[in-house]
Amino acid sequence: MLDGNDLERLHGEHVAWLSTEYARSLGETGWDAVLVHSGRPAPRTVFDDQFWPLRPTPHFQHFAPLAEADCALLVVPGRRPTLLKNVARDFWERPALPESEHYLAAFDVVEFAGAEAMVQLLPSGRVAFIGEDAARATSLGLPDAARCPAELMRRLDQLRVLKTPYEIVCLAEANRIAARGHHAVLQAFRDGAHAELDLHLVYLRATRQDDPETPYKNIVALGAHAATLHHVHYGRRAPAGGAESLLLDAGATCHGYASDITRTFALGAGAAVDAFRALIAAVERLQQTLCAEVVAGRPYEALHDRAHELLAGALREVGIARASTAELVGSGATRAFLPHGLGHSLGLQCHDVGCAEFSPRADNPFLRNTTRIAERQVFTIEPGCYFIDEKLAELRSSSIASSIDWSLVSALARFGGVRIEDDLVVCARGAENLTRAALGD
Ligand code: GLY
Ligand code: MN
Ligand code: MN
Repeated sequence: MLDGNDLERLHGEHVAWLSTEYARSLGETGWDAVLVHSGRPAPRTVFDDQFWPLRPTPHFQHFAPLAEADCALLVVPGRRPTLLKNVARDFWERPALPESEHYLAAFDVVEFAGAEAMVQLLPSGRVAFIGEDAARATSLGLPDAARCPAELMRRLDQLRVLKTPYEIVCLAEANRIAARGHHAVLQAFRDGAHAELDLHLVYLRATRQDDPETPYKNIVALGAHAATLHHVHYGRRAPAGGAESLLLDAGATCHGYASDITRTFALGAGAAVDAFRALIAAVERLQQTLCAEVVAGRPYEALHDRAHELLAGALREVGIARASTAELVGSGATRAFLPHGLGHSLGLQCHDVGCAEFSPRADNPFLRNTTRIAERQVFTIEPGCYFIDEKLAELRSSSIASSIDWSLVSALARFGGVRIEDDLVVCARGAENLTRAALGD
């Protein structure tokens, strides 16, 4: 990570750029100012008095990595942005300690006590409100039409597509933090820790980030559980005889920015596990080919299509399928083995906004990135190959079924599937792989 002075300078440049762009968006959409609310912890249910940890409004974190409730960022064109810091406290709670204070210099900071006092700080004119908290907007006297106005939101989402140097530094560090967790889990898995919950706890300990700080719920999937794409209900016991494979999809945050990394491992000996190792190696090779083919100007959807072509080759190489690439892709067979999108924009959210302005083609329903690849985008490349009962049932009743080696598929099904996922930043030529740099592989 950069030292504090460099981080403060980069953050200052980031906020100066962001403020200018906010001013332009406000002007073009007819607003005089915007109040970006940090949020308030959401109740876990209406039946008791417990709350989820605060996930600050991402637009607020775009300016400041501060996780305090009922604060706000006020942007008025032509003025430095103002951080409105709520210093009212009660004796039950204290806000999270900030990781660092590098962000403070970019703002005029105004402290106030209690949300009621925030209303005194609003400028005159048409003030938009960004945040989930409708009750807070109302208590500030802002009309419903001022809350998250669609055209303003669309423009602000676009500001999340290309990352600034400050954001890229944070994303790289989020990869380095996650890499510590991945190394520790792999070691623990090899050493015989074979309960998903234990591996999850190893990860949290190694990254020194608590569960609510991870950008998404870790996916820790032993064996057949990897076929559940979002497997987050961790087994508390090791499978009888020990686990043979692990899919770990786990990230970390740095100043609000996320990493999103997946690796798949196999253990032991025998024909089935050797075939699964061959599949991991084939997915690893095709993932690396896709990373090398990232180039500014190419539609991301074309890369997703390329993943299916490459997967057809991998299915033949491992012996799962015999048909040609055109047949395997055209029949939908590759989509049965890889039903999700190739990747997504990454930033303040694991599935970051602004890159899905257009719908993908009907045969790519889950693709979240339909942009033309551009320098300073950050996105994941995460191909996989899974043995999902529902998808295999569809494949079995399709015209391509006879070209599939079903006995190999049933032998591999107990490993669930493979995914390899890296985070890339697009450069003038190609892309820099933040994940491989962090993991050292
Ligand atoms: N970890 C969620 C995803 O890879 O999209
Ligand atoms: Mn991902
Ligand atoms: Mn992931």
